[in-house]
Amino acid sequence: MQTEIIQEGSTKIIVPILEKGANYPPSSAPVFYNPRMELCRDIGVACVAAFAGKRELSYVDVLGATGIRGVRIANEVGLDVTINDWNQKAHELIEKNIELNQLNAKAMRKNANVLLSESHFDIVDIDPFGSPAPFLDAACKSVNRMLCITATDTAPLCGAHKASGIRKYGAIPLKTEYHPEMGVRILLGAIVRSLARYDKSVSPLLSYSREHYFRVHLAVEKGAAKSNKMMEQIGFICHCFGCGFRIWKYGLAAHMPEKCPSCAGTISLAGPLWLGRLHDKEFCNLVLHELESRKLGTRERAIKLVHLCTEELDNPTYYDLHEICKELKIAPPPMEAVIKIVRKAGFKSSRTHFSGTSFKTDAPLNDIKEALCR
Ligand SMILES: C[S@@+](CC[C@H](N)C(=O)[O-])C[C@H]1O[C@@H](n2cnc3c(N)ncnc32)[C@H](O)[C@@H]1O
Ligand SMILES: [Zn+2]
Repeated sequence: MQTEIIQEGSTKIIVPILEKGANYPPSSAPVFYNPRMELCRDIGVACVAAFAGKRELSYVDVLGATGIRGVRIANEVGLDVTINDWNQKAHELIEKNIELNQLNAKAMRKNANVLLSESHFDIVDIDPFGSPAPFLDAACKSVNRMLCITATDTAPLCGAHKASGIRKYGAIPLKTEYHPEMGVRILLGAIVRSLARYDKSVSPLLSYSREHYFRVHLAVEKGAAKSNKMMEQIGFICHCFGCGFRIWKYGLAAHMPEKCPSCAGTISLAGPLWLGRLHDKEFCNLVLHELESRKLGTRERAIKLVHLCTEELDNPTYYDLHEICKELKIAPPPMEAVIKIVRKAGFKSSRTHFSGTSFKTDAPLNDIKEALCR
């Protein structure tokens, strides 16, 4: 395996060199490394640093590959780090990367689910090929304080591969105009239900969708009462593909309308999924502070993304401006103008990190249309 040394943050990492002109995905390299995930790792470092503060917490990078996430956390945050991968070549590279940065992090070579079932960690980071579903149960059993989870199986989560989404997450996703948010909420719903089995609860700190992946960072607490409260935030989204009407209902046995109250068309159901908030705004401000004070390759883009997350409303869906304007047969106004128009009509409104052409609001669709035509 040919390797080179690259730098992310203040950490040096030995990574495999893809053959010149290679057109295969990074997943088919002898050890996985995807430079396109630097933004995700930079934000991950900032989130873990913001969460840990001055505490000496244990952190596990369960699916390490080169070990880049764990090595960065050991080097740039200074936690007590364990890095695991069952692949022999990956394990050797993890050991070399720990040595290169002169860290005393621990390298393990176990089945991730075995490691997580045997030990508790304060922070558990799961960064799999595709779906995190096979690791959720063990991760939820192991974790004490914080879960960081990536999913790259966006098609099943968003409803593009519906049957696969149902199998992996025990929930029905719908391919709506707000499908990336649907995906994040289906993923959170599955994590929340796994945690509830261990009488644990979560509070989402920062959850986002970007390119081909979703990433969530969650604070975890123990206790059945809090876990019960958390389960109240699980529910369903009722969506009408005829007119775009949507409402959400809390609870696993919620009563759903059969017909769309707006156009009398058929209502489709998505869920069970997470209807609670996606971010903790105070935490996001700490993350912004971490991003601003660090030398990071993706600093500006990371700040922009987290900043958008702090500003967005907590409503579980959003509207695509172009779709609405196409139906109204009007030219789409600039986004800032739309937000002002909707606010002036007496509603809340914000941009969303999920899509540059969309906005969030608590206004019903008919009120949005009325405001835009005024
Ligand atoms: C997507 S890569 C991890 C990428 C890495 N976190 C990064 O940021 O570059 C997934 C890794 O998980 C390892 N893996 C997959 N299933 C595993 C299992 N059940 N136990 C341990 N390692 C596993 C693979 O060998 C692979 O190296
Ligand atoms: Zn309708």
